[in-house]
Amino acid sequence: MTTRILTGITTTGTPHLGNYAGAIRPAIVASRDPQADSFYFLADYHALIKCDDPTRIQRSRLEIAATWLACGLDADKATFYRQSDIPEIPELTWLLTCVSAKGLLNRAHAYKASVDKNVEAGEDPDAGVTMGLYSYPVLMAADILMFNAHKVPVGRDQIQHVEMARDIGQRFNHLFGNGKELFTLPEVVIEEDVATLPGLDGRKMSKSYDNTIPLFGSAKQLKDAVARIVTDSRAPGEPKDPDNSHLFTLYQAFSTHEQQAAFRAELLGGLAWGEAKQRLFELLDNELGEARERYHALITRPADLEDILLAGAAKARRIATPFLGELREAVGLRSFREQVQVASEGKKKAAKAARFVSFREDDGFRFRLLDAAGEQLLLSIAFADGKAAGQVTKRLQSEALDLHAELNAFSVRLDGEAVAYSPEFSTDAERDAAMHRLREALAPQE
Ligand code: TRP
Repeated sequence: MTTRILTGITTTGTPHLGNYAGAIRPAIVASRDPQADSFYFLADYHALIKCDDPTRIQRSRLEIAATWLACGLDADKATFYRQSDIPEIPELTWLLTCVSAKGLLNRAHAYKASVDKNVEAGEDPDAGVTMGLYSYPVLMAADILMFNAHKVPVGRDQIQHVEMARDIGQRFNHLFGNGKELFTLPEVVIEEDVATLPGLDGRKMSKSYDNTIPLFGSAKQLKDAVARIVTDSRAPGEPKDPDNSHLFTLYQAFSTHEQQAAFRAELLGGLAWGEAKQRLFELLDNELGEARERYHALITRPADLEDILLAGAAKARRIATPFLGELREAVGLRSFREQVQVASEGKKKAAKAARFVSFREDDGFRFRLLDAAGEQLLLSIAFADGKAAGQVTKRLQSEALDLHAELNAFSVRLDGEAVAYSPEFSTDAERDAAMHRLREALAPQE
């Protein structure tokens, strides 16, 4: 069984070393695991909450996309997309908003911090607080639940948000799942080894502290940043304390145990800070040099990046579109045009009768196949007209079924083209069982 790993990166700012060590690098390593089904995306709707400068938003999306690819993300294996290319996400956000307790969101750290600051300053508690900031965790829950992620690797500051996604998903399951887990409840993953990198001044490396080391600046910029790392005033020859040096912490994040032991010994032996900085610079330059070249090549070809991201969005929507259809159905947003057409006419077979239900949506005509208990077996692609959809339902009942397993779902093909998709399953066994049930339901009547 594969594990679906999902994480988003907010597209404000330019990626720095802290983002690389804390999020990008571990995520890319994880995506190479054959058991991993990774969903990585640019959280550009989240970016709008914090930033009202369109130029910066656009620049940052481009830089972050180029960064992930330059660092080695394989966009064919992973699903790599922009949140804003998936219209199902804001739609799901609303469905989730309607089941999210206001009290839950009142407790969100980011919102509470803003309120505390206002109160301290003697302002209205909600001064400057937008609904975007307030609802931030619901949008994030939609990101996660849309794709039924099992694991969500994030920084510590995001743990609460993943917990909220679980709460909200659980509530939705309870209200609308009819005993079925509509949403997988995600688990948060924190990389214990890397935790958070210290910045130049020893506080957490963060754009808001202006203490970052750029990831893909020139070698000179890298060197200059390293030179600005704050150290204590011990002179060359005096023993340094590696455990109280954030320069050493930075070194640790990019080195092997042997390298760390050697560097530690040198510091204890009185290595000058200037030398120590040179060691760190060489380590980083070695780690990042090749990726930096790939990054600069990518950033000059934005049209190629656009194509890669649009392909990623199409891949993601092959899951999101039918799943949102199921969720709309679950909450009672159903078409008035649904016509019930019993698949197997034979009265004797009525017990296992499956039904095709056709309906019209903005993008065309679709049908679902429901089993006798009303559970969805298939959702079709959109057809230009009702007649085309009808022909497909006829053929599915009379021809040998051509089923293809895809990720955690399966498709039904006619003439080699997928015409309908199953819902998502959490295990391969469940998926295979559903394929079997489908064959039974559509077995030609004698
Ligand atoms: N809020 C996250 C951050 O700022 C980014 C994010 C948005 C995210 N949606 C997500 C992370 C979904 C994990 C899963 O870091």
